[in-house]
Amino acid sequence: MFNTNYFLSRLDTNSICKSFEYFDEINSTNTYLLEKEEFRNGDLVLAEFQTAGRGRQQRKWLAMKELNLTFSLGLIPKIQPEYLSRINFTVALAIAETIDEITNFTTEIKWPNDILLNGKKFCGMLIETQFEGLTISKFVIGIGLNILQTDFPDEYKSRTTSLKLFFNKDFSREEILSCFINKFSEIYKFTESDFDKIYKKWLSKCSLLGKEISLSNGIEKFRGIVKNVEQDGTLILNSNGIIHKLNSGDVTIIKKD
Ligand code: BTN
Repeated sequence: MFNTNYFLSRLDTNSICKSFEYFDEINSTNTYLLEKEEFRNGDLVLAEFQTAGRGRQQRKWLAMKELNLTFSLGLIPKIQPEYLSRINFTVALAIAETIDEITNFTTEIKWPNDILLNGKKFCGMLIETQFEGLTISKFVIGIGLNILQTDFPDEYKSRTTSLKLFFNKDFSREEILSCFINKFSEIYKFTESDFDKIYKKWLSKCSLLGKEISLSNGIEKFRGIVKNVEQDGTLILNSNGIIHKLNSGDVTIIKKD
């Protein structure tokens, strides 16, 4: 069981986490925060199990009870709306650096927001926003991190991993979550003022630059070489000289033997 006191004791005093709610079971930590009436900046919600965990592109997020981290952080960013997508970079970088520090291994970021260990996904993010008029009222960062789960459904096995499966050892969920929150709290304040630094670090961990990929966004399928990911999150794909600017989708790296 997640040790809340130990987790809270590890948070820096200036941490962004202002309230922590723990659920044994919930539908989805993202849904909970999106529906919460008294939503505050810095609300952190963690569940041992989600009955309706959600992934990107309307997929389900399945994670076994008490073995992983499934949590959401709620923010009310005081940031220009056109810069909101920068927070995605900040979150992904904070997760990747947390895991690098704890494991002494170099993770990679796969656009848009997956974190990989040797090409296998162990962490995904679902970021959802609510507006009141033109002002952002809720910014919910949902993160699923596979930590101690070693058994995955057959259809995911070839492309999914967990820290335990990959490193063959146990990790403390409390240490990982507190390290992430501390790191994110530290760099989040620079999302607007010093974004270049965050962006460059993110790019240096991005596994797709220069690679040949196929990308499906549910409507169309593209194939080409990744030229860049721009500061607003747009992926630039060169398909035989035609440049596509893509905002979302599922990417497969085309391996040539
Ligand atoms: C993805 O890679 O498809 C994103 C997965 C995001 C899963 C997390 S788990 C905590 C939070 N609550 C949800 O329902 N989804 C996110």
